[in-house]
Amino acid sequence: MVDDILRTPGAVRDAERWTAHNYHPLPVVISSAEGAWLTDVDGKRYLDCLAGYSALNFGHRHPQLIAAAHAQLDRLTLTSRAFIHDQFADFCRELAELCGKDLVLPMNTGAEAVETGIKVARKWGYQVKGVAPGQANIVVAEGNFHGRTTTIVSFSTDEDARADFGPYTPGFTVVPYGDLDALTAAIDENTVAVLLEPIQGEQGVVVPPEGYLPGVRQVCTERDVLFIADEIQSGLGRTGATFACDHEGVVPDMYLLGKALGGGIVPVSAVAANADVLGVLKPGQHGSTFGGNPLACAVAVEVVRLLATGEFQRRSAELGERLRAGLEGLVGKGLVGVRVRGLWAGLDIDPALMSGREACERLAARGVLAKDTHGSTIRLAPPLVITEEEIDLAVNALAEVLAG
Ligand SMILES: Cc1ncc(COP(=O)(O)O)c(C=O)c1O
Repeated sequence: MVDDILRTPGAVRDAERWTAHNYHPLPVVISSAEGAWLTDVDGKRYLDCLAGYSALNFGHRHPQLIAAAHAQLDRLTLTSRAFIHDQFADFCRELAELCGKDLVLPMNTGAEAVETGIKVARKWGYQVKGVAPGQANIVVAEGNFHGRTTTIVSFSTDEDARADFGPYTPGFTVVPYGDLDALTAAIDENTVAVLLEPIQGEQGVVVPPEGYLPGVRQVCTERDVLFIADEIQSGLGRTGATFACDHEGVVPDMYLLGKALGGGIVPVSAVAANADVLGVLKPGQHGSTFGGNPLACAVAVEVVRLLATGEFQRRSAELGERLRAGLEGLVGKGLVGVRVRGLWAGLDIDPALMSGREACERLAARGVLAKDTHGSTIRLAPPLVITEEEIDLAVNALAEVLAG
């Protein structure tokens, strides 16, 4: 087919013309999807190996989630938190139970959950720990990605994310990721929290050394500091467990959740913590018009119910081993490094061969969609409904791309 009868080139041109260029998407224009598969405006099918950065852990249009959304659309969509609606309590209770925490505070985007966590930790620091006014400090890690607000980019170490967005919010100390001694040394009497991704997704699925997360847990307990785990990308089944922290038996003081919580249908995020932490917030001190709205709660409670069966965590763990075996077989054949946890993989392509972007473009030409991050790294995060055959298809496509 030639360009003038394909719809994709024109649709790409229009999108570029009418939007700010804050993303550099692959030139693919999707019009429908089901399960692990996407179809573009020209009818070409792609295997989704990004899953909306883990927002689509249950696949596109999971029937149970779509049914819940439809039913709720026909009854009630928004009340604001000025009133209580009939979907609210079940969602908060079932998510709190999944997390093993007393309370849940629902928001919308991941960045809002992170902002909520920061605010709660600061208030807890002043009111419970007794930190001097205005002195609260939070320890964070190099290579972090927690979102895009002005406060969050203030402690980003990625210059693209941070440069020219100052003045920056003070109150954060950055230490190397995975270095327990450095983290311990950074804690002082003003430290209210350590905020970490248990696996750094955006950085390329970077898994910290074994013992690091338990060490962080221990030092936080000893020094009366909150351990905030940003599980927005790593949580809710992605790594073969409900939370990435589970792999090392670690329970943080606060879980930050987002992405998959909305079932790929609506933005839903949340903070889960015990009453001694989340209880510091009083009426008027935090909120969001759309946070915990009826549609969001109706979908998200079904997400929690899917996770409560354990089926998706099991699939991710089992199928992740197949993905690992396939990818490890490509080390030395175009890959120079592979990190896999469940159905989540960071692949380092030999930079002498091609960039991550080029690899993703070539994968797309073979019907597999993935996303590069930081130069020559690709992240794979297929929906957890992917099958063994589809994993093989993705690995084979990658092998062909690397073989040139
Ligand atoms: C670990 C982590 N935290 C926070 C965020 C921000 O989420 P959102 O884009 O929904 O604001 C992301 C997004 O990629 C993330 O990966």
